[in-house]
Amino acid sequence: MKSQIAAANWKMNLTLQQGETLLDEILAQPYQLNHNRLVVFAVPAPYLAMAQQKVAGKSHVFIAAQNCYSKKSGAYTGEISVEMLQSLGIKWVVLGHSERREYFQESDQFLAEKVNIVLEYNMTPIFCCGEPLQVREAGTQNNFVAKQLEASLYHLSAEQLQKVVIAYEPIWAIGTGKTATSEQAQEMHAHIRAELANKYGADVAKNVSILYGGSVKAANAAEIFGQPDVDGGLVGGASLIAKEFSTIINGL
Ligand code: G3H
Repeated sequence: MKSQIAAANWKMNLTLQQGETLLDEILAQPYQLNHNRLVVFAVPAPYLAMAQQKVAGKSHVFIAAQNCYSKKSGAYTGEISVEMLQSLGIKWVVLGHSERREYFQESDQFLAEKVNIVLEYNMTPIFCCGEPLQVREAGTQNNFVAKQLEASLYHLSAEQLQKVVIAYEPIWAIGTGKTATSEQAQEMHAHIRAELANKYGADVAKNVSILYGGSVKAANAAEIFGQPDVDGGLVGGASLIAKEFSTIINGL
């Protein structure tokens, strides 16, 4: 069953102390959370244990890794396995963020392997997709995103697919202050859901949470999240400011 999700992505920001303070400030506020309204914090790897301890005992608030490796264990210096994450109690992993695709050359095939191992360990992947500016300007964004989904997700069974959270993040809207309009977000989210329905059937597609990411802030979150096919957001910059992210959570 799909949920509404406010997911923070701290990216490579904050010291440990700043991260602790930010989490304390956000978690001190009251929220109306339940199994349909969740909060996720994707924090830098060195802070996962601290963050996991802070949310211990809090229902419907989860910590996510920003990445993981595709192998179970072995001689892969510097990488983080799903078993390591699981041993910390982490249940969510962001995969395929455009920054990882661009700066670390993560391919669709590599991401398919990561999706597989995350699901094998009963964790939830937040699978990111989204087009660059030149694709949007050429008007071929629907096809571009459909191909990303096909290449990394369509080998999954219907049961597995329903455990994936998809985050649509148009690259031209990330960290630029240029948010997609709520109409543009809805249009692409409806397209993604239609593609999933085409492949897996409408009953499966309606169970998949599809988040929007790209310059979401307190001032625009509620309107974007109010679109019928937008099930929350993956938030970068604004998630680093306690008041902003608290308002975003309340916009779910
Ligand atoms: O993962 C989050 C997205 O990259 C959005 O980042 O909210 O800073 O634009 P942003």
